Amino acid sequence: MCGIVGYLGKRDAYPVLIKGLKRLEYRGYDSAGVALITDQKELRVYKTKGKVSDLEAYAQDKDTSGCAGIAHTRWATHGEPNSTNAHPHISASGNLAIIHNGIIENYAVLKEGLQRNGVTFQSSTDTEVLVQLIDYIQQKRNVDLLTAVRMALRQVIGAYAIAILDKNDPNKIIAARKSSPLVVGVGEDEFFIGSDASPLIEYTDKVVYLDDNDIAIIHRGEPEAEFVNFNNEKIDHEIQTVDLNLGQIEKGGYPHFMLKEIFEQPDCLQDCMRGRINVDANNVVLSAVIDYRKELINARRIIIVACGTSWHASLIGKQLLENICQIPVEVEYASEFRYSNPVIDSSDVVIAISQSGETADTLAAIELAKQRGAFIFGICNAIGSSIPRATHTGCYIHVGPEIGVASTKAFTGQVTVLTMLALALGKARGTIKNDDYVALVKELNDIPEKMKKVLEQNDRVRDISRVFTYAHNFLYLGRGYNYPVALEGALKLKEISYIHAEGYPAAEMKHGPIALIDEEMPVVIVATQNPLYDKLMSNIQEIKARKGRVIAIVSEGDEKVKALADEYVELPHTIECLEPLLSTIPLQLLAYHIAVCKGKDVDQPRNLAKSVTVE
Ligand code: F6R
Repeated sequence: MCGIVGYLGKRDAYPVLIKGLKRLEYRGYDSAGVALITDQKELRVYKTKGKVSDLEAYAQDKDTSGCAGIAHTRWATHGEPNSTNAHPHISASGNLAIIHNGIIENYAVLKEGLQRNGVTFQSSTDTEVLVQLIDYIQQKRNVDLLTAVRMALRQVIGAYAIAILDKNDPNKIIAARKSSPLVVGVGEDEFFIGSDASPLIEYTDKVVYLDDNDIAIIHRGEPEAEFVNFNNEKIDHEIQTVDLNLGQIEKGGYPHFMLKEIFEQPDCLQDCMRGRINVDANNVVLSAVIDYRKELINARRIIIVACGTSWHASLIGKQLLENICQIPVEVEYASEFRYSNPVIDSSDVVIAISQSGETADTLAAIELAKQRGAFIFGICNAIGSSIPRATHTGCYIHVGPEIGVASTKAFTGQVTVLTMLALALGKARGTIKNDDYVALVKELNDIPEKMKKVLEQNDRVRDISRVFTYAHNFLYLGRGYNYPVALEGALKLKEISYIHAEGYPAAEMKHGPIALIDEEMPVVIVATQNPLYDKLMSNIQEIKARKGRVIAIVSEGDEKVKALADEYVELPHTIECLEPLLSTIPLQLLAYHIAVCKGKDVDQPRNLAKSVTVE
């Protein structure tokens, strides 16, 4: 939610900032802006409604010189997306410029106080309140910028990652974080700031991930950044080397990140399993399960907390863990869990699943579960993000940066880690037969090759999508392990094509949704040859009897369903609990192609942002 980027060094800041914003645009894209300071202490701010390309067009004929600057791409929380509310915001004195990701929850009280003291505001954002407060303190108390920032942040309730420029000191940027991600990149005689490492990896692989309540002070000419807490006590941060390359964050010849990420899935799953699955030894090794064997195998119950697509993966995880490990599992929306009064204690394990590792609701759910003594296991993608740091242990999914706003490869990565976790725990608890274990390990290892076969049907899915772009509603059905896949397919379609879609367990259709079916209604049904196959066949008959249009996801060579359905996509045979890793792919492709046919902005759908760092 909002991307922030900063530069201080020897280059022209503007091109670095614009490139950085483009890499962070997945975090929000309703307005963008940049502030630059020249060595002559001139502060220039350009901002506009729309995307980073709109900002570029706007600034085309303007003076963009200066080797220090900050820039922002916004996902609006307070105040509509227009150029006034766009960041950077400038203080009343005209000295300070700020960019901010997060929410200042007590902004109204702070604003009232400042207004009573004569401060006037230009925008309706919470962010402007913060820069005015810092400016006010600086003027009133005659203190330096760092002191003013520390004093202001002590009064702030909420979440923030901020960066501040001071017109009177073009050689310094101050940045701070609380509950919103912030990275400082350390180059040779230059520094970078980013919401994640993607804006800076082109220039340096040396980074420092800030912790909550850290303030970073970067000085031009200094070899290192300085870090302090709100009490001005020095903090030692280790410089880490970031393992990310440009190819991972560029489209690589695909028209959209989403399509690239769908096609990357076989490789991603191989990366996810590398070093963890040893087929020769018929073994799954997860270091977290070795290190925390006692806590995990003795779990009385597992509660999985997540949001959105990660929540759908959790529903598959529940079935895997219950079937393989015989542990009762509950799946909760993190946003509901955090405000519930859950009965949990130290005998419970809470698994938090998140692609970004920054989702505010999931982080809050973790904090609540920790307070109640539960052991917390994280399953995340973004390395060094907040959730892995808040959990006791966990596993990264290692699928590489996911940039398309609609999650695809993270979902299959999460399901793969959940499968490996269930196998490792099931073996440790003695709840899985050795033959089943060996067969599953082997089959999981073969899934990437089978995924490639599904991806070969991309043209078929594209042709199907052309038939159905007329539809205003879609129904997605599945059972067992494929029920969460139906939910995920419906979510993908809603997100990027803005077509209303609902996912249902197929047997529930007759309890209501069947009333919707007529000749206009496409129904996507995952009807593979699993134990509920006959029941799914009956569901298809029921849809056809009401003239519904059936798009069936079927097992390879299943002529029976192929003959019944209007359209079909075939999946290679696999073990039932691994089917979601294959069946989800045609649904991702279907959503993608329908959105493209409808001319929608696939990678940056309206109103959405990739990481939801606000409530
Ligand atoms: C859907 C999507 C969202 C996220 C949700 C949780 O395509 O991307 O529903 O899954 O916002 O995000 P993470 O996994 O980052 O916690």
